[in-house]
Amino acid sequence: MANFLVIITTILLTFWIVWICGHSRKRRKGEPPLITGWLPFIGVTLDYVSNPLGFLRETQKKYGNVFTCKIAGKYFTFVTDPFSFSIVMRQSKNLDFQKFAVGFSQRVFGHADFNSSLFSESYREVHSIFRQTLQGLSLQQLTETMLGNLQIVLERGLPHEHDWLEEGLQSFTNRIMFEAGFLTLFGKDAGFLQADGISGTRICMQKAVQDFLAFDRAFPLLAAGVPIGLCAEAWQAREALAEELLHDKLHHRNCISDLIQRRMDAFDCMHLDETGKARTHVCMLWASQANTLPAAFWSLYYTLRSVDAFTAACTEINRVLSGQLINNQDQTICLSREQLDSMAVLESIIEEALRLSSASIMIRVASDDFTLTLDSGQTADVRKGDYIALYPQFIHLDPEIYPDPTEFKYNRFLDEKGQRKSNFFKNERRLKHFLLPFGSGASECPGRFFAVNEIKQFLALTLWHYDLQLSDPDATLFPDSTRAGLGILPPSRDVLLRYRKKTNTTTEQLR
Ligand code: HEM
Repeated sequence: MANFLVIITTILLTFWIVWICGHSRKRRKGEPPLITGWLPFIGVTLDYVSNPLGFLRETQKKYGNVFTCKIAGKYFTFVTDPFSFSIVMRQSKNLDFQKFAVGFSQRVFGHADFNSSLFSESYREVHSIFRQTLQGLSLQQLTETMLGNLQIVLERGLPHEHDWLEEGLQSFTNRIMFEAGFLTLFGKDAGFLQADGISGTRICMQKAVQDFLAFDRAFPLLAAGVPIGLCAEAWQAREALAEELLHDKLHHRNCISDLIQRRMDAFDCMHLDETGKARTHVCMLWASQANTLPAAFWSLYYTLRSVDAFTAACTEINRVLSGQLINNQDQTICLSREQLDSMAVLESIIEEALRLSSASIMIRVASDDFTLTLDSGQTADVRKGDYIALYPQFIHLDPEIYPDPTEFKYNRFLDEKGQRKSNFFKNERRLKHFLLPFGSGASECPGRFFAVNEIKQFLALTLWHYDLQLSDPDATLFPDSTRAGLGILPPSRDVLLRYRKKTNTTTEQLR
């Protein structure tokens, strides 16, 4: 009997292997090298997931600048030559961004399928709201509101003078940036500015930040395709956030940003159900916070670890803030657009922090069979439905473009005159794309200007109001690479921060 079972199993296994071999994809003439690995569905997923940059570098060495990998059952064609990035980005006729992004977002956030013919026309209009409300005058308004909210949140948390407090730097950053960012986009609830209103708001905010982080922790699994129903904590957290963002509740908040107000109006016209609308707002909340929080963390962390960065940042902040506070009785800080733009040192610190911590992947879907011609003249046939992927970390950590690429250099993005530097080279050719934490082309982050402004404000205010020290400045932190592909990597652990209110901030710093 046992022998019989072994024979049957062997026969079935043989049929299955023959079937897999017959049906597995073969490279056609003109197509890039195909790397499928040994296992039928998994392909090279495990190699890729365990060390994306290492795997892609190795594969590039073996197969050249363009190759196709089978990852989690899908075919990804990676283009690794930085001079070909703009060629891929210009292919909007053959390469679609929305299809992938909207499908992904629907799966993770549980909102309606905006790719369906029922919604696709109106969703195009919703999409245009990003650019209309995150740039120009609206950006200025949003930035001013953020500065006000940051000061409210900081003022509330300031310890009594001379008392040192201890808190994880990540927890400190998340607490302050999440609340100020949330209030800026979604407005304040009616009791916010009443004396007892603030403590009520604070409890809600603590719950919201915890829910946000619980949902965000599960993001790598959700992105890999695990249904949210299997991640109970993430599901509960997402639904709790959605509950707070129901239109009924949002209608009772004051100072809602143009961005959210216009999205609410548009979704009301699309006749979505109330929970569906609230889930689109969770999606917007995630887009506005998930990268900003770790980016703000790294910017402050690197500033506190490097004496040169710290000194240059404080000198710049004193120059900008001292002037305006001399005659200002209530000590409220206002920063004009020109003043924010003039903070080139802070901008360089933020860009360097983004360069070191960004691990996003830019994905497009081929809407037809077509031939891609790279910068070198090499061609690659691409099949309809395949993904084309660009991995900016290739550029960000390339030693030819950035010498000592893993080192933090606060002035890497400054020229000899202390102005913004934008000429970076590879093979003695100037690069158009040398820093891509915000993506590029059709999928470029519409919130990028606001993100840099809010991190600048955060650095300026915390360094101005607090004495800040890392408990162990020599301990090296590494980014959590399990989130590679999802944007700015958070640290793999928190570090202890000691802080206290500065004594008599303005008069001391003015001297
Ligand atoms: C340091 C902070 C940030 C980083 C590094 C970042 C990065 C990115 C990247 C890489 C994408 C493109 C994703 C892709 O290609 O699939 C993106 C998309 C997006 N980001 Fe950001 N982002 C940041 C902050 C923000 C903020 C503050 C907002 C809004 C207030 C925002 C709103 C969005 C939106 C709405 C999209 C989707 C755009 C679309 O569908 O066309 N982001 N972000």
